[in-house]
Amino acid sequence: VVMKDVFQTRTMEEELKTRLGIKDVHIVPGDSDEYAWVQKEMGRTCVTLIKQRMAAENNVIAVTGGTSIAAVAEMLVPDSGLKETLFVPARGGLGEQVENQANTICATMARKAMGSYRLLHVPDQLSKEAYESLISEPSVQDILRLIQSATMVIHGIGEAEAMAIRRNSSSRVLGELKDKKAVAEAFGYYFNQSGEIIHKVLTIGLQLEDLEEIPCIIAVAGGASKAEAIEAYMKRRPNQTLVTDEGAARAILAKN
Ligand code: BG6
Repeated sequence: VVMKDVFQTRTMEEELKTRLGIKDVHIVPGDSDEYAWVQKEMGRTCVTLIKQRMAAENNVIAVTGGTSIAAVAEMLVPDSGLKETLFVPARGGLGEQVENQANTICATMARKAMGSYRLLHVPDQLSKEAYESLISEPSVQDILRLIQSATMVIHGIGEAEAMAIRRNSSSRVLGELKDKKAVAEAFGYYFNQSGEIIHKVLTIGLQLEDLEEIPCIIAVAGGASKAEAIEAYMKRRPNQTLVTDEGAARAILAKN
């Protein structure tokens, strides 16, 4: 039975790779919408990938917030390869509870891996003026350079509306996302079904175009409810790795 399951999962991974047009897919059994342990399994799989893909030295890992990446942090254990690693948040405040903020996750990862970390203290909902004055601060520029030098990025993907509500976005933003048919969110950017950007949260840190320069990018997102979001976001990212679950995989493959 177990061998059969492994075989089925491998087949589904191949199908999903073709369907999404990306180079690497890893599927864990179950649906994280239904069971919390499934998210932990995605976390475990992501940790294995991180270890496999680390460079020999000078690793800088940028992480986003969210419960999926918090699960990756939870699964990290000390490892000789991870010891010298520097962890940084990918972007500044994006309206998360403390335990799901990129800063918190990045500090947890560093503690668990016995690496080091740097934080980015930027408030949520920056006005243009505040953004421009913060970005010219030398201390902010220092950390920003580190973030842009990341060798690996680990990030979540969310459903557009769910993320906008979680961030207490204004009714104007919620309306705009609805009008423009946003389905996916990642790094504070919102996308429609074709993967086009339709809105962006103003904050300091990685911009979508910076991803082109980063050698290894791993998304962790599962649950049948994220099927559309995952499919939309992956239209932009053919060169990346996805860690997901059977719930999301089946829902994507079932769509026509
Ligand atoms: C947020 C990120 O912290 O987490 C988003 O800023 C991401 O970009 C989201 O989409 C994912 O959250 P979760 O809890 O579904 O993993």
